[in-house]
Amino acid sequence: MNTSPRKPADIWLAPSLLAADWSRAGEQVAQLQELGVEWLHFDAMDGHFVPNLSFGALFLRALRASGNQHFDAHLMVENPSERIPEFLAAGAQSISVHAENQPHLHRLVHQIQDGGALAGVVLNPATPVEVLSVLLPELDFVLVMSVNPGFGGQQFLPLCLPKIEQLARLRAELGLHFKIQVDGGVVPGNTTEIVRAGADILVAGSAIFGGGGPLEANVTAFRAAIEAAF
Ligand code: DX5
Ligand code: ZN
Repeated sequence: MNTSPRKPADIWLAPSLLAADWSRAGEQVAQLQELGVEWLHFDAMDGHFVPNLSFGALFLRALRASGNQHFDAHLMVENPSERIPEFLAAGAQSISVHAENQPHLHRLVHQIQDGGALAGVVLNPATPVEVLSVLLPELDFVLVMSVNPGFGGQQFLPLCLPKIEQLARLRAELGLHFKIQVDGGVVPGNTTEIVRAGADILVAGSAIFGGGGPLEANVTAFRAAIEAAF
């Protein structure tokens, strides 16, 4: 489903720092800013909600001075309400929390928004869009996971495409304005269909930072794939 009148400039790239070269992450953040990349995505993993352990708010804070992109924190943790204040204080401008382990999502969303950031809820591949039917009008964005969270470099799961289409349809029908973010296995080769399904924000780790290749070439490949969706 093509949701024109969107245009290529409405689709934002959000490189995931999980795949960056952490020994020179500041340099890479600055480079991405020069390339005009809109968002940066920070994957906080606690080793409990997901098997992997990554980094916390201090990493985001350390990079805050290296670029003026929008800093986006994806919390894959058991106790997001305890972590949200740290991420807000560190300079996160948006924070997303998972639907799967949170009985009080409404409170969490408002904790984030009251702290001055955009709030998103994340849906794992097995979580249906319906869990958000009540909360959708209050959300700034929905993050549709296209891999099971915990690791970078996994294969994109096509089962997320109907979920993106469903969200885009609901957004239009209900006259809402939340953005649709997609995360996991996003590469230039599947970007066109993801954007056509209705996605607005593309998170990409390995395809931006992987292989040590020049960031510019990787960003350019994404931009071409975004253009091709229109
Ligand atoms: C996975 C993370 C993703 C990850 C994406 O749990 O939420 O943001 O970094 O990495 P790629 O693009 O390599 O799948
Ligand atoms: Zn993520």
